[in-house]
Amino acid sequence: MAHYRSVGAVPPKRHTQHRDASGRLFYEELMGEEGFSSDSSLLYHRGLPSAVVDSRVWEIPPVATSPNHPLRPRHLRLHELFPAGAAGDAVTGRRLVLGNADVRLSYVVAAEPSPLYRNATGDEVVYVESGSATVETVFGALAAEQGDYVVLPASTTHRWVPSGDAPLRAYAIEAAGHVAPPKRYLSRFGQFLESAPYCERDLRGPAEPLERAGSDVDVLVKHRTSAGIVGSRVTYAAHPFDVVGWDGCLYPYTFNVRDFEPITGRVHQPPPVHQVFEGPNFVVCNFVPRKVDYHPLSIPVPYYHSNVDSDEVMFYCGGDYEARRGSGIGQGSVSLHPGGHAHGPQPGAYERSVGVEFFDELAVMVDTFRPLELGEGGLACEDPGYAWTWAGRGPAE
Ligand SMILES: [Fe+2]
Repeated sequence: MAHYRSVGAVPPKRHTQHRDASGRLFYEELMGEEGFSSDSSLLYHRGLPSAVVDSRVWEIPPVATSPNHPLRPRHLRLHELFPAGAAGDAVTGRRLVLGNADVRLSYVVAAEPSPLYRNATGDEVVYVESGSATVETVFGALAAEQGDYVVLPASTTHRWVPSGDAPLRAYAIEAAGHVAPPKRYLSRFGQFLESAPYCERDLRGPAEPLERAGSDVDVLVKHRTSAGIVGSRVTYAAHPFDVVGWDGCLYPYTFNVRDFEPITGRVHQPPPVHQVFEGPNFVVCNFVPRKVDYHPLSIPVPYYHSNVDSDEVMFYCGGDYEARRGSGIGQGSVSLHPGGHAHGPQPGAYERSVGVEFFDELAVMVDTFRPLELGEGGLACEDPGYAWTWAGRGPAE
């Protein structure tokens, strides 16, 4: 969806000769979604982008999941997955927390540069909880910092290079398709509408090509077979970042959650006003620090709600989430409130919120339209008492 961008050297006419100073042709690559029927970009390489010299199996991190059965709301403490802090890199170190056929949610703490990586199963939206990194891509580099969503279109070759003293903490949303701002935020020609909570100025794309040289370069490729998601380690004759220029509407970009302008009202606003992205069979919303409901009789925390058609996953990444106070949920927690279950504020929060004017909270929410299952990471950091926190007691012994 991102708007048109032109970076580096491109010829004035597409699909025509583009040469270096010595007269040697660059090789044009079209990277386009939905066949040739949706957004695309044209990239100009020094080497053949198709020249591979080897392909081997890459054993990806575990992707098996267990059903949420018997049905329970869940609380997962993601920080417990990396008790010693930094561990490995932002790609191979990911631990699957929740997933289904449409989307996978993983968490990682990383201090080392990742290998070159390409997710051919769909777009990735990686939310930076803390720390910072440079995301080097075939389109150029992106600076990523706390609060950034890094949107990486499917099959974008890239790698994560943590920067700064603190390790990178990141929450990866891997889609089985494409992720974009909600269609209702856009004009029929694709411009953000005045009513949208963010706009083009808030999106940051690569500014210049990397123009890397090299030979026999490995790229980890996550892809699908009929048996599920697998990995391959493909070796390229030329460095994939040998691009001298590109243009088009398909490229990675970042959007920082602080640039999301919350929509508020006299009474409680429904979650869709907090939406930031949509993907196939899921949406991404964020709850940001904001003034809250100002009707004289308003109750600022949410009403209790049954997710008839969705599972709701909240990642608590800043402030103090008012409605969950007293539940054990804190920074780095994930809650899963599944379809088939009514949920809402913890005991006391409903009453306590009356008269409150500001919520200092930050959470990233993923609502899926098909049930989620627990990954190995989710199972490893579960708080088993969460389901009973509204009642104040669990099952009889
Ligand atoms: Fe909810």
